[in-house]
Amino acid sequence: MIDLKITEATKGSRPNISLPHPGILEFLKEEGVRKLVSDHYDKLRTSRIKHLFPAEEVMFEAAKNNSADFFVQILGGPNYYNQNRGNPMLVRRHNPFSINAEARKIWLGFYQELLPELGLPDELLLSYWNYLEQFSIWMINSD
Ligand code: HEM
Repeated sequence: MIDLKITEATKGSRPNISLPHPGILEFLKEEGVRKLVSDHYDKLRTSRIKHLFPAEEVMFEAAKNNSADFFVQILGGPNYYNQNRGNPMLVRRHNPFSINAEARKIWLGFYQELLPELGLPDELLLSYWNYLEQFSIWMINSD
């Protein structure tokens, strides 16, 4: 069982990112990626950072869908996100939300729970985790 570690991070750090392995999408299929994002959002919704996410059902489902579009795209699938939302520019899109190091840990902690349940081969599991673990540091915009 691989140990998925959350590194300490502070606002302003921009580690280099390696894109997640395209084999992840082949393994999970688009449906599996969408379910993963949906399960992640469902956990966020009852978490200590639920205030950051839309409370209203239709908006919440739209947020899930936008996120899933992004992940399918970044994993090498169709560029749904660019079609529906344009250039991701995720740092800028997260700016309206106050995300501190603690919020990142909560957000990542749910992936830490969910990713190992998918049955991904270790190499793919680590590739997805490392991407999320590192890129999430970019989203910290508050102390
Ligand atoms: C560091 C922890 C993070 C927190 C607390 C966080 C929080 C949020 C919030 C509050 C939204 C807006 C939801 C809405 O109203 O639509 C959002 C949107 C989004 N997030 Fe994150 N996020 C984090 C990290 C990430 C990471 C690492 C990624 C990508 C790898 C990501 C991808 C997205 C995408 C694609 C959207 C949708 C943007 C849009 O089209 O509006 N987030 N996130």
